[in-house]
Amino acid sequence: MKIYRAKDYNDMSRKAANIISAQIIMKPNCVLGLATGSTPIGAYKQLVEWYRKGDLDFSEVTTVNLDEYKGLTPDNEQSYYYFMNENLFSKVNIDKNRTYLPDGMEENSEVACQRYNEIIHSLGGIDLQLLGLGHNGHIGFNEPGIAFEKETHCVSLSSRTIKANMRFFLSEEHVPRQAYTMGIKTIMSAHKILVVVSGEDKADIVRQAFFGPVTPPIPASILQLHNDVTIVADEAALSKCTDVEF
Ligand code: F6R
Repeated sequence: MKIYRAKDYNDMSRKAANIISAQIIMKPNCVLGLATGSTPIGAYKQLVEWYRKGDLDFSEVTTVNLDEYKGLTPDNEQSYYYFMNENLFSKVNIDKNRTYLPDGMEENSEVACQRYNEIIHSLGGIDLQLLGLGHNGHIGFNEPGIAFEKETHCVSLSSRTIKANMRFFLSEEHVPRQAYTMGIKTIMSAHKILVVVSGEDKADIVRQAFFGPVTPPIPASILQLHNDVTIVADEAALSKCTDVEF
C-alpha cells in the first residue's frame, strides 16, 4: 500500500487525477472503475480540465462504475448515472456506449447483478479502480459484515449510509433502501486500486481501515491484502495516523 499525503482537498484531487491520467496515457484503451460520492468530484473536474486543454483523450476508454441505486431512473438527478454524466461523461470525448453502471431499473436483482458481472468479465477486468471510503469503512455499497468473496450483488443500505446520503435527497424517505454494487471480490480483482479520502471526519476510519486488522466489520481493510493499492489522502484524513510509518 502506498499512501500519498495531500495538503488539502484540491491537492488530493490533483494527485488522484494525475494517477488516473497516467493510466489513460499509458493504456489509452484501459478499463477504469469509477466511483461517485463527494470525494472524487475534484479529480473528475481536473480530468475534464486536462481534456479541454487537449492533454487527455478518453476516446478509447471504457468505464465501469462501482454501484447504482436500485429503482432510480438514469434521468433521476440522484442516480449515479446522472452523477457520472454531469461530472465526467458529458464533458469529455468518452464513447457513452462504453460507460457502464449496474442497471438500477432492473427489478430482478439476480439478473441485474449477473449481467453486470458478465460485462466486467467480458472487458477482461478493471485496470484501475477508483474508490471513496465510507465513514463506516464501506467501499462501493459493501457495508460492514459483508462477505469478502462476493461479486456484484444487491444490498440493503445501512441506516448510517442512508443518513450520510440523505444530503443529496429531499428527505431521508427519498433515499433508496437498496443498491446494486460491485462486491469486494470484484474490487479486489482490479489490477490497481486508487483510494481518495478527504476530511477530518474520515480520520478514524482511515486509521482503522489501513492500519488495523483486516476484518469484515471494516470492509475497506481488505485493501491491505491487494498488491497495488494507492491511497491519496489529505492531511485532515491522515490526522489520526501521525504515529504510524508509511
Ligand atoms: C460511491 C460509493 C461510496 C462512496 C463512499 C464515500 O460510488 O460507492 O462507497 O465512495 O460512500 O462517499 P463520499 O466520497 O461522499 O464521502
